[in-house]
Amino acid sequence: MPSNSYKYKYDGCGPLSCLALLTFSVFVDASRSQTSLRRVLEVAPHTSDKKKNPTGLNKTTTAAAEAPYWNLIGANANTSLNFKVNIASRKSLTPEQQCNIISEFGRMPLMCMKGHDRFGRAELKKHIPQFMDFWRLQQQILPNHCCMGVNHMFALHFLVSTLQPSVIIESGVAAGHQTFMLRNTARHGTRIFSIDPGDPAMSYPKFAGGIGHWKDDSGFTTYLTGASFQDFAAINWGALIPDPGVRANTLVVLDDHQSCIERVKVLRAWGFKWAFYEDNYPFMVATSADPYTCANLGNTIVRDFPIAKFAFGDAYSMNAVCGGPLPEKTSNFIIKDRFGTSCTVATRQDQLLNVQYLREQMEVYFEFPVLYTPCKSPRPPLLDASTTDLVSLGLPTVETELWHYGHLFPSFVELTKPSVPVPS
Ligand SMILES: C[S@@+](CC[C@H](N)C(=O)[O-])C[C@H]1O[C@@H](n2cnc3c(N)ncnc32)[C@H](O)[C@@H]1O
Repeated sequence: MPSNSYKYKYDGCGPLSCLALLTFSVFVDASRSQTSLRRVLEVAPHTSDKKKNPTGLNKTTTAAAEAPYWNLIGANANTSLNFKVNIASRKSLTPEQQCNIISEFGRMPLMCMKGHDRFGRAELKKHIPQFMDFWRLQQQILPNHCCMGVNHMFALHFLVSTLQPSVIIESGVAAGHQTFMLRNTARHGTRIFSIDPGDPAMSYPKFAGGIGHWKDDSGFTTYLTGASFQDFAAINWGALIPDPGVRANTLVVLDDHQSCIERVKVLRAWGFKWAFYEDNYPFMVATSADPYTCANLGNTIVRDFPIAKFAFGDAYSMNAVCGGPLPEKTSNFIIKDRFGTSCTVATRQDQLLNVQYLREQMEVYFEFPVLYTPCKSPRPPLLDASTTDLVSLGLPTVETELWHYGHLFPSFVELTKPSVPVPS
């Protein structure tokens, strides 16, 4: 691959994006108070952003200046946080960080074991050749791939191929490379709703060597992006998908960095049954007390999270609830919502209630294994750990893979049948 496109390969946002936060440029803009969360453009190469940062927290690098940014205007009306988020400078998330994060996942999601074996290793492994066919296609059409890494792509590709949902909702679109995968994996004519505060074409304009966007012109995808954006929770799904039976057969792909509890409430309310929760940070990362998220908590928390080892998280993930019992010494922790712009301090009792809530709602909680990882993990990869020749398999090397084969054990959730009729 030419060196310039090689460089851009790492400038994507993605499922591990908010683990790539070490070089995220963050600054607090106390003069603004907005409740919207906006995606701003993928910038063509430009000068450093340093001078725009009044706090000195900005660690923008030259590579960072060429990367896409998310601009998140804080959700809290009293405190606004204007993140200028530099997504995924290659240097920002090291292989060591990825392995440290993977090592936080225990053998199983101990608090939510129902359905933890929903998909067997044999059927997952059997799917690898089909995924490789798709991967080759994606490489041809979107060579500067963004934003999901190979491991998460495999999980979602398997899920869509296996469930064959009637409708797909993707919350979190970015450049639309995931839309490309969904369109090429779902049954012909499957309706897709794509939701993002930014529009792929605006945020990721095409230029030589850039990530470039993909938008579906088949007529089967509805874009609730840019000016048409509404949050998943605010949309009248009864109008867009009037048949409750179809909603029960809809897959909701959540890559929008919101609290899993808030999202499950909405899924329940509309009778959605299936969800894929992508950035499934382990508890420690999900609840990180770092300098970059939770501006609304100000200095009421001690921001000493070891970001050099673990980067940090921006949403209360499914695994943060289901992964295991709270560490003994933890009396309080942070619950993050809305890309880490809306945070609350929670107690052990809150965690118990959240575990109980999810357990009651879920028929299945399944965490996808990793396709390949060079890291040690009690959860074996699907590709044999001795695999060294990834290239001959048609996969990128660890060095060239978008996230160094990082993995957050994204989860598939199947909710129980609604106990009360859902709106139509
Ligand atoms: C990690 S990217 C999504 C990448 C995409 N899933 C892919 O792999 O191609 C996260 C996206 O979530 C978007 N986002 C932020 N808040 C959102 C919200 N409330 N609803 C939906 N998307 C949101 C951001 O603008 C960003 O584009």
